[in-house]
Amino acid sequence: MEKIIDENKQGESLVLEQKESNKRKLFIESYGCAMNFSDSEIVASIMSEQGFNTTKNLEEADLVLVNTCSIRDKAEQTVRKRLEKYNAVKRDINPKMKVGVLGCMAERLKTKFLEEEKIVDLVVGPDAYKDLPNLLAEVDEGRDAINVILSKEETYGDISPVRLNTNGVTALVSITRGCDNMCTFCVVPFTRGRERSRDPQSILEEVNDLWNKGYKEITLLGQNVDSFLWYGGGLKKDFEKASDMQKATAVNFSKLLELCAKAQPKMRIRFSTSNPQDLTLDVVQTMAKFQNICNHIHLPVQSGSNRILKEMNRLHTREEYFELIDNIRKIIPNCSISQDMIVGFPTETEADFQDTVSLMEYVKYNFGYMFTYSERPGTMAGRNMEDDVPEETKKRRLQDIVDLQRIHSEIRTKEHLNTVVEVLIEKESKKSNTQWSGSTPQNIVCVFPKDDYKIGEFVNVKVTDCTSATLIGEAIGLSENN
Ligand code: SAH
Ligand code: F3S
Repeated sequence: MEKIIDENKQGESLVLEQKESNKRKLFIESYGCAMNFSDSEIVASIMSEQGFNTTKNLEEADLVLVNTCSIRDKAEQTVRKRLEKYNAVKRDINPKMKVGVLGCMAERLKTKFLEEEKIVDLVVGPDAYKDLPNLLAEVDEGRDAINVILSKEETYGDISPVRLNTNGVTALVSITRGCDNMCTFCVVPFTRGRERSRDPQSILEEVNDLWNKGYKEITLLGQNVDSFLWYGGGLKKDFEKASDMQKATAVNFSKLLELCAKAQPKMRIRFSTSNPQDLTLDVVQTMAKFQNICNHIHLPVQSGSNRILKEMNRLHTREEYFELIDNIRKIIPNCSISQDMIVGFPTETEADFQDTVSLMEYVKYNFGYMFTYSERPGTMAGRNMEDDVPEETKKRRLQDIVDLQRIHSEIRTKEHLNTVVEVLIEKESKKSNTQWSGSTPQNIVCVFPKDDYKIGEFVNVKVTDCTSATLIGEAIGLSENN
């Protein structure tokens, strides 16, 4: 399973409010990153206008859509297993069911699904969801349909996603699409296209709307959020060609954070993901200035070796990364920092790996997501470098850093013992129906007895115990933020 976001959500099907006039049934499920989950909400909104209500029951679906991930081979294999399952249901139970593939695998494999493999009826890339009504009409007439055109402009800023399946407390808000960073291992620039930012006005409208609907926390989403830049629309790489007026009134990420924080001073604001080369200190200063911007930065580094960082086309050194970490801690002493790490990138030696270990020792991340390198066809590393680290070595290195991260998480989590933390209640604890579960601004999960508190309330919790990843405590009252 892919672990970029909550593991329990992988493959979760989305169910929205039922419209009585809608007669057809859509089963939609998502894999991969938070952006895919956010995109599926946009797709479900578009489909709701096309006469589809969502269902959790695969067998009764008229249309099955799966939003897919290509980041590692394993992610694609998971989706392939699901496609086998849909096709079995289609063959044995529901022959009129249609199956569509959305997202990164659709973009990467294009017509292969339709022409060679013949396992789906519909293939739609991440920038083509507005074309779904036309594509669906083709499918209804018995033809296969495909649109995998990547766009320079599409940000879906004008579609308000329907989110009724969620806890009603936290929501994802997309702010950029695509990525221009071209890390040599990464398929995202190929599947999601060039980077473009969404109109801040439409972002603010969405944030205000979410607050009015009772949401208390948003996560601003992008493959590389710190690179957000709005100058009236268009690709990030074309900013140089913008007029003086456009340049003077441009909105960068730190400004956008400020606008969001001011628009809803009680809304908790998070963002993900930051690339160290694009995270500037004005963003950290803005975080420090506004109490409602959560003190957590997801700051993937991928490797601690300067040589490997260069091979990965990550545009900073280990020393520059340390400087950034030191500056973050100077400006926000209690900021939690999390990582993504890849082991076994081509040519990684034991010494390179030890650099990763020593980098982790230096930072002592609060938590992290760690992976073995998976060669992706079409990427620079896939084309030019041999995947030469033996699988066994990759696995051993992965286990080593997973173990190390657990030790660091425990150290970080223990720092909260006997302190009072603010928790936004999101849901019932998985382990006990008498306990609430929520997270602190630093993005650490905290569980505590329910008493009379309710979902969506900000509560001050005295931390009395912890595991390596979870704080355990007792509520001592509502926080001032309510
Ligand atoms: N900027 C993105 C990164 C997307 S990929 C974001 O929003 O999170 C998420 C993580 O997957 C990366 O940080 C990297 O650690 C890992 N990853 C990407 N390509 C990979 C590959 N080919 N093999 C193994 N892990 C990979
Ligand atoms: Fe991928 Fe690097 Fe962009 S990891 S999403 S190319 S920042």
